[in-house]
Amino acid sequence: MTAALFIRDMVVSFDEYRALDHVSLQIEEGSSFGIVGESGSGKSTLLRAVAGLNRFESGTLDVGGTRYSDHRRDKAFYRTVQMVFQDPYGSLHPRQTVDRLLLEPLVIHGFADTETRIARALDEVGLGSGFRFRFSHQLSGGQRQRIAIARALILEPKILLLDEPTSALDASIQAEILNLLEQARKERGLTFVMVSHDLAVISHMCDRMAVMKSGGVVETLETADLRAGRFATDYTKQLMVASKGFRRAPAPV
Ligand SMILES: Nc1ncnc2c1ncn2[C@@H]1O[C@H](COP(=O)(O)OP(=O)(O)O)[C@@H](O)[C@H]1O
Ligand SMILES: [Mg+2]
Repeated sequence: MTAALFIRDMVVSFDEYRALDHVSLQIEEGSSFGIVGESGSGKSTLLRAVAGLNRFESGTLDVGGTRYSDHRRDKAFYRTVQMVFQDPYGSLHPRQTVDRLLLEPLVIHGFADTETRIARALDEVGLGSGFRFRFSHQLSGGQRQRIAIARALILEPKILLLDEPTSALDASIQAEILNLLEQARKERGLTFVMVSHDLAVISHMCDRMAVMKSGGVVETLETADLRAGRFATDYTKQLMVASKGFRRAPAPV
């Protein structure tokens, strides 16, 4: 197995509070890895620490043969790893046009063929060139999340970090966005690390998953094992009961 991401003993503290407590994970290239856990368990902190948005005080991160030991990230990192956030209202500047939002990463990373890339990116997320000169505040939540995904994909990364990418959206839009992500993953052979509080989403989208509690990983398992009720902790069982997608499932809870 080739690891796309190798996280070892990662620790993140906010003042005295330890939000991430020696987390280790190995995520296989081309796989879709889920992270679940109750609110405040450290899921976002983990993704943000990987992305260089939170400092980690100890531990290591390996991505594509490069080791990162603090929050500093080089350009090569962002060519490989991109993040999509839960709230597409907060993550896209409202007074920028779609064109500007997509152009910015291309300029930063020195791409020349910006026209072609922007057109292709808009097509890929199902919006088309008619959206190019709209302002982000003119778009619906689902359309904004499509732009956020286009912005992440436009640099042709290998790994997407997805922090509750559909949690802020209506149920019908959620399914569309998940399908779009799954299609992009298949076509591009991407590796996903997807956080969700909804175990049905993780079960549908991911091969393996980690269950987090109080800043630590309590177990990692195949999502097939989750579906079959083969998990090690009562905490995972409680999460399944609490997650609405599983309440209707006949077994195994
Ligand atoms: N920037 C921050 N400053 C202080 N505390 C934070 C910060 N970010 C997260 N935390 C705390 O760390 C814990 C984990 O948060 P988070 O990773 O956002 O949880 P989750 O995404 O699993 O809901 C929470 O107790 C949260 O309040
Ligand atoms: Mg979170």
